[in-house]
Amino acid sequence: MRMTDLITKKRDGETLSDTEIKTMISRYVEGSIPDYQMSAFLMATYFQGMTDEESTALAMAMRDSGDVIDLQMLPGIKVDKHSTGGVGDKVTLVLGPLLASQGATFAKMSGRGLGHTGGTVDKLESIPGFRVELSVDEFIRQVQEIGIAVVGQSGDIAPADKKLYALRDVTATVDSIPLIASSIMSKKLASGADAIVLDVKVGHGAFMKDVEDATKLARLMVNIGRLARKHVTAVLTDMDDPLGHAIGNALEVDEAIRTLKGNGPSDLIDVTTTIGAYLLMDAKIESDFEVAKTRLKKALEDHSAYQTFEAFVSAQGGDIEAIRHMERLISKKTVDVLATESGAIESLDALTIGLAAMRLGAGRETKDDVILKDVGIVLKKKRGDAVEKGEPLAVLHVQDQGVDDAYQMVLGAYRISQEPVAFRPLIKSVVRD
Ligand code: URA
Repeated sequence: MRMTDLITKKRDGETLSDTEIKTMISRYVEGSIPDYQMSAFLMATYFQGMTDEESTALAMAMRDSGDVIDLQMLPGIKVDKHSTGGVGDKVTLVLGPLLASQGATFAKMSGRGLGHTGGTVDKLESIPGFRVELSVDEFIRQVQEIGIAVVGQSGDIAPADKKLYALRDVTATVDSIPLIASSIMSKKLASGADAIVLDVKVGHGAFMKDVEDATKLARLMVNIGRLARKHVTAVLTDMDDPLGHAIGNALEVDEAIRTLKGNGPSDLIDVTTTIGAYLLMDAKIESDFEVAKTRLKKALEDHSAYQTFEAFVSAQGGDIEAIRHMERLISKKTVDVLATESGAIESLDALTIGLAAMRLGAGRETKDDVILKDVGIVLKKKRGDAVEKGEPLAVLHVQDQGVDDAYQMVLGAYRISQEPVAFRPLIKSVVRD
């Protein structure tokens, strides 16, 4: 197999075989295919696309380039979720304990990642003592005992994807639906779960800006899952507005705890219980979607989900007294962002809010940046809310950096209208195998 032949085939719109894709990926990882040839292949793929079978072969070849987690020793159906990333997305913090409280098995590896706030493991690390590194034995024992463990990504998951993603980043080939789908799925297929729900965020604050592209991505990922014998569901959810009210690491843990005690914002509850209901069905714990969703809402209201959260935090070394007093972990230095006119909130640009949180220090731009766990933004007004001039739109929890910039960014993210604001559904559609 010569790489030039594969580039030519893809350039001319032909289909590559599983063997060709597999060989190409293993030779690229071992270094015998140079970046310049892989760049040409990626660009040809960008223009010609891939069949679902090619995307699946690529996802599997990238999965097999590194460690594949084996969760066979855990009984029952293992469930997992993945979000394509959004502002204020703390769904995993609520969903994991919620599902475990209902008998599901949630054994998850989560990322840190670059972005507006840290990833799930950064958020969990805002709890003093919380350990995101567990040995394999500790991880398995904890899941057997309480149904949940969340750890940072260790080992060598899909190294081919890491190498290819870095190349895509500098060759303008990130925005290709088959390449995105196979990249995400390579890591999910390595995660050891039997059933996965993908939360595909759509809107200003998301990777996918429009519903049409997000639907194509969702369909392709579900198909890859089916061809790889995993049960995959994709839920398309709105990310024009941030999810919930809190953006920032400790602030998001605080909002997750409120939600686990039945006092969460309605959008966060809706997204979490929708994803959770599909996973309860996949885990064969419930057979009807509405019954499953109602059951999950009840587990939030009667605090059973919160009790599992305390057991989870305690099992991973976190300080329970600290989570009972989250206000101590959040910066007390605050600045109110005040409305400059009266009206109704017509829109609230999630991306700008996310960037403002990052300016305060809540996220990292490069992998070596240090995150400030106690800073962030609490939105007092969201889409559709009425506001009076001079009323707070949001509260910034700050240290010393970026306060003036963040203030102007948050103010500019709000658009206030004199007209009534139309309803927009939060769950846009579901693609289920
Ligand atoms: N997230 C991923 O993991 N891969 C992509 O290609 C895009 C987003």
